[in-house]
Amino acid sequence: MTTPQTPNFDRISPTALLVACARQMSGLPYTREIVELTDAFTVVKQFLALDNQTADKLASGAPVRLQTAIGAALIEARYRAIEQGLARFRPTQILELASGLLPRGMIWSENPEITFVESDLPTMIEQKQQVVEHLIGSRPNLHFQAIDATQRPNPLLCNAVFDAAKPLAIVCEGLLMYLTFAEKQQVCANVRELLQTYGGVWITSDFSTLEDRQRRHQHEVMQQIDAKIASATGRAFADNEFATVDHAKQFVAAQGFQVEAFSRVDVIDQLQCLAGLDIDRGQFQPLLTVPIFALTLATH
Ligand SMILES: C[S@@+](CC[C@H](N)C(=O)[O-])C[C@H]1O[C@@H](n2cnc3c(N)ncnc32)[C@H](O)[C@@H]1O
Repeated sequence: MTTPQTPNFDRISPTALLVACARQMSGLPYTREIVELTDAFTVVKQFLALDNQTADKLASGAPVRLQTAIGAALIEARYRAIEQGLARFRPTQILELASGLLPRGMIWSENPEITFVESDLPTMIEQKQQVVEHLIGSRPNLHFQAIDATQRPNPLLCNAVFDAAKPLAIVCEGLLMYLTFAEKQQVCANVRELLQTYGGVWITSDFSTLEDRQRRHQHEVMQQIDAKIASATGRAFADNEFATVDHAKQFVAAQGFQVEAFSRVDVIDQLQCLAGLDIDRGQFQPLLTVPIFALTLATH
């Protein structure tokens, strides 16, 4: 009999530094400071076992400038598209799952009327809290919680911070594609229970697809980085992604959600990563095909 393996989610955490590096070209607030404070390039170099030459190329741009800019633009696009979806719901309380080194909590909590909870695995959230305290100090409406989003019974429910009389917006980018289908189901069950308690919406970019991954892999650098991520995390996107958007929609329907899809293409003109680069829009736009999902409880 084989012993079931304990999932080692901590192996995924350094990917937060990888996407933080990508985001520093986005012009989003705090992104450069976060990279500097965490020495993210050095961590990523070790994590992905990059040789000096590749690491220097990635840090400096040439001759992979176009391909790295495209990768960074995809990270920027998912952030901005989630922001667009979130703004439509005018949330007053927000829970971010797997927040990593995102600046969203710092930005939304500038408004004292908004309660924002950042959550991630214990080590990651501790590092995040330190970074945030360094950058903006502490705020009474910005909280940090160590939460494994896959854990059952539901760790998201015992939350003294939120007001049960107000709807909750849950956000998540860059987590589910690392999780097995069974782990995704556990996250869905936790979020479903949260929405049953508070009402509200779950906005996520994470129902990514293999057909989309194949389009990205036409860019060699992205293929190479995904292979290195798989070996560093022990988790391959090929094992964990949905075949198509319809497959993802069927999955969320089976988990008790109804879905409204938002196009990522809507944010294409906002992408600062692409500014100044001679990129053919027709070539980039297909990489934004997978929509952002806004999930609410199914009514039937
Ligand atoms: C690719 S990073 C994305 C971070 C952030 N959302 C972003 O977009 O920059 C993946 C994140 O998932 C977190 N993570 C991995 N497994 C987790 C789990 N079971 N529960 C909560 N967070 C998890 C990692 O610590 C890491 O911060």
